Amino acid sequence: MRRSRIAGVGSYLPARIVTNAELAARMETSDDWIRQRTGIGQRHIAAEGETTSMLALKAAEAALAHAGLTAQDIDLIVLATATPDYTFPSTATQVQAALGITHGAAFDVAAVCSGFVYALTVADKFIASGSNKRALVIGAETFSRILDWEDRTTAVLFGDGAGAVVLEAVEGKGDASDTGVLTTHLRSDGRHRAKLYVDGGPSTTGTVGHLRMEGREVFKHAVGMITDVIVDAFAATGFSAETIDWFVPHQANQRIITASADKLGIPMEKVVLTVDRHGNTSAASIPLAFDAAVRDGRIQRGDVVLVEAMGGGFTWGSALFRF
Ligand code: UT7
Repeated sequence: MRRSRIAGVGSYLPARIVTNAELAARMETSDDWIRQRTGIGQRHIAAEGETTSMLALKAAEAALAHAGLTAQDIDLIVLATATPDYTFPSTATQVQAALGITHGAAFDVAAVCSGFVYALTVADKFIASGSNKRALVIGAETFSRILDWEDRTTAVLFGDGAGAVVLEAVEGKGDASDTGVLTTHLRSDGRHRAKLYVDGGPSTTGTVGHLRMEGREVFKHAVGMITDVIVDAFAATGFSAETIDWFVPHQANQRIITASADKLGIPMEKVVLTVDRHGNTSAASIPLAFDAAVRDGRIQRGDVVLVEAMGGGFTWGSALFRF
């Protein structure tokens, strides 16, 4: 059975760090409130002129270097973002051009905070079908550009960054002992649009718009949706909270992560947390967290890793892979 293994991982964060204290000097909030409600201590913010494709390119180059591959080895780029450089062309094609790739295909996937799980799923299926050999899967965002900096209920939550993995075709036995992506589960329900959306777009207002969120409403749905798709991943593979090695959740809010881990019986020692340092970087959060835990030596080759995300749409999903 043809599978896709993660040949390399990389990430990039803009240089500028904005602390909670800095935000508290600009708006009516406090370090205490932000930490207690979200677990966030700081976030990275892109410099003026630093675009989503620039962040994505740096993450992609790091993932290629980690895999020991060159850009010419890649025949597919799937990039997840809700903050593209332009309405069109896709940010993926900007990255493709910057990498000097003129073969294969590159396109964006729009699933907001679930974008990386969606992009991973798409690329895995392209590879499993035999149509492509090596894919860059990228999550990259500059949410700072769509935040309403006058709205303290959303401005304190998000950050900028990018993460990427290289997926490569391998032959497996077709069972749960294989290396690579073992299962993926995607869901969406468009009835929830008004709870988390951007109030602009080319076909409505003709403007980019700002992020709007009913945080409490999103929170109410998050844990149930996340645990549903994780139960699906466990049922499809036979793995369980006890037998996975690592849980790398979307980093929106530490309380959501802790509640989901608790409900599933996943001990916090297996949970990778970066929300304290990165804030919510939407589609970039999972590959950023995964890369952090690979670089510091926690996640090793052969480890079984569970990822999940939930966000605007609503969209949600999970993936389980052996690294
Ligand atoms: O990644 C996509 C998915 N997004 C999420 O997962 C986000 C989900 N939601 C959340 O993480 C949480 O709902 C928030 C962190 C957004 C908010 O936490 P909460 O515990 O649900 O707080 P709340 O919205 O119920 O607000 C509590 C109070 C309110 O004041 P009153 O009405 O009790 O007087 C807010 O006005 O906190 C106030 N508040 C703030 N205070 C200081 C809201 N934002 C702030 C702030 N600083 N930045």
